[in-house]
Amino acid sequence: MEGTGCVILGIETSCDETAAAVVTDDGEIATSVVASQATLHARFGGVVPEVASRRHLELIAPVIDEALGEREVDAVAVTTHPGLIGALLVGVAAAKALAWARRLPLIAVNHLHGHVASLYLRPLDLEPPFTCLLASGGHTMLLDVQERGGFRVLGTTLDDAAGEAFDKGARLLGLGYPGGREIDALAKQGDPRAYDFPVARVPGLDFSFSGLKTALLYTVRDLSPHELEARRADLAASYQRAIVRALTERVEATGADRVAVVGGVAANSELRAALPDAALAPLSLCTDNAAMIASAARYAPPVPYPEYLSLDARATA
Ligand code: KG4
Ligand code: ZN
Repeated sequence: MEGTGCVILGIETSCDETAAAVVTDDGEIATSVVASQATLHARFGGVVPEVASRRHLELIAPVIDEALGEREVDAVAVTTHPGLIGALLVGVAAAKALAWARRLPLIAVNHLHGHVASLYLRPLDLEPPFTCLLASGGHTMLLDVQERGGFRVLGTTLDDAAGEAFDKGARLLGLGYPGGREIDALAKQGDPRAYDFPVARVPGLDFSFSGLKTALLYTVRDLSPHELEARRADLAASYQRAIVRALTERVEATGADRVAVVGGVAANSELRAALPDAALAPLSLCTDNAAMIASAARYAPPVPYPEYLSLDARATA
């Protein structure tokens, strides 16, 4: 699609953001609308899949309307995997209906390719090759990116994702959801050396965060409510330091000289400061959005009308 003058409508509903965006073939974002359901899930301390699907159903038409306006587009792109299956299906059904009604081609996008493609949007417009750290609520991976159309996985998490570690840690500390932003903010008032939380020693380029989460659980369990209140900022700062160290140590272990960071955790201020030479996805494109999905669609094969009607969503990568 790149270099064809095509304008792409992207749709993203894999988790708890209902998003639509219009992107040109040269990577310019014309519009990008993200309706976050975070407050809806906050009282549960995490995303409730059934609640997310229902909310996507309510939001998908107005969000697409707002992104599209009176614009003409040449193709529709949608996240088909990985993600929450009920949530994905809402986006896929909407994309199919819209593409079919307008006789447009449809492009199926892998959400992880979407995160990497947030780097290909203007003004950053990053060119491979580079080594990419993808750290989100669902995934933590090191990727070897040689071309815009794909990547090779160098390492992945053996248990929790980095964002999940932030979210679970925030819950243990009695903070809100999503936890990453809350810990990031509170850590600024704490001492990162107050607690010595472990960085897992995993062979190769893989990650592990479950031991760290357990270490926080035991530490919090030994504190009285009053002590927890007094030490919350120190705990947040020390916990965040351990996650950031685990991520940066692995990035350094690749020996790569061109590094990029994407995904929700790429919004973390300490991680951004710890990798000053890396290409960092812009803050607005770190957490889930549809501009990155339309961006990735530029490097994926379009399925012509009406062959995509049997296209399906799936939960796994
Ligand atoms: O990429 P994303 O929006 O969704 C997935 O694809 O999973 O990532 C969401 C994750 C959540 O776990 C959230 O806590 C984390 O990104 N996050 C952060 C920050 N902002 C969002 N983690 C650390 N620091 C932040 N500032
Ligand atoms: Zn994501």
